[in-house]
Amino acid sequence: MNMVSKLKEILSEYEGLVAKIDKEADLMNLKAQFLGKSGKVTEILKGLKDIGPDERREVGPLANEVKEKIAHLTDSRLAHLEKSAIDKQLSDERIDITLRDKTKYDQPRHGGYHPRTLIQQEIEDVFLSMGFEILDGPHIEDEFHNFEALNIPGDHPARDMQDTFWFHQEPNEHGKRHLLRTHTSTIQVRGMMAKKPPFRFIAPGIVFRCERTDASHEMVFTQLEGMMVGKDISVSNLIYFMKQLLTQIFKKEVEVRLRPGFFPFVEPGFELDIRCLICNGSGCSVCKQVGWVELLPCGMVHPNVLKSGGIDPNEWNGFAFGLGLDRLVMMKYGIDDIRHLQSGDLRFNSQFSTY
Ligand code: DAH
Repeated sequence: MNMVSKLKEILSEYEGLVAKIDKEADLMNLKAQFLGKSGKVTEILKGLKDIGPDERREVGPLANEVKEKIAHLTDSRLAHLEKSAIDKQLSDERIDITLRDKTKYDQPRHGGYHPRTLIQQEIEDVFLSMGFEILDGPHIEDEFHNFEALNIPGDHPARDMQDTFWFHQEPNEHGKRHLLRTHTSTIQVRGMMAKKPPFRFIAPGIVFRCERTDASHEMVFTQLEGMMVGKDISVSNLIYFMKQLLTQIFKKEVEVRLRPGFFPFVEPGFELDIRCLICNGSGCSVCKQVGWVELLPCGMVHPNVLKSGGIDPNEWNGFAFGLGLDRLVMMKYGIDDIRHLQSGDLRFNSQFSTY
């Protein structure tokens, strides 16, 4: 075979082999077999000195051309190998950012109780253990249950004490207008009508006031009403039950004070205050800088109220109280803004979870 066709054969052999190489080291070996010291092309170049000048003129440039082509084929194969190595790495290490982070989210997430629910359950337990029942009542009431039966007739200035959301709606069959209950005292009326004395019950629930909101006021908040009716019930009984309640809730003696308070449905009426647990009495936004927080308005049930509930005040008497549950939650957990309670913010709520 002459040298020209041998060179052509070498080139096509290399083309065939290089296309199958998939490792850089193999590629270098292959290149050495053709262009190395005793490689196939090198051997031919070495033999040029033994051939005649005419043939050398033909073979010499072709040999160099083949050498260059082999070098070029090697380079492009190398580039191809490097590119596919990178592509493979990219696809192997691809991060699917739409996937959930297993370490974070695949754990089952526990729900928890709202701090108000926790306190409500605690109070319910305390009162259940003292023989009280738990009653409920509607949020939409009429002015009889919210006011009149509680000794607050239509023209009574005490109606202004509670800014009321009224419904623009026809009055009911007794001519009474509808409203969103402004206090849980409505359930006193419903309880008295439903029960025969003696009885004792509590009634937790949300109430509504058309008020400007700030750190200690919300338009929707929670109260817990209590009522006990029996024979010869006294203020000492009232104080006893209130102290039981507060000691159980705060798990310590809290400082309290009783002031006279006016509420049309009780006589005498009291304001039971506790020493502000946020600032320990030095003054903060929750206690409006006075160091005391009004927590528990209460009193002896007014005879007119007993009468509206169908109970003879000459035979029976009793006490009632209306606890502001949100204030109590704030005191217990050191929360300085009532608006957190309704925020629905899980970062807030989850702090109280018992799980
Ligand atoms: N209903 C009153 C209010 O929302 C609170 C209250 C005061 C309830 C005295 C009572 C009570 O039962 O005896 O302002």
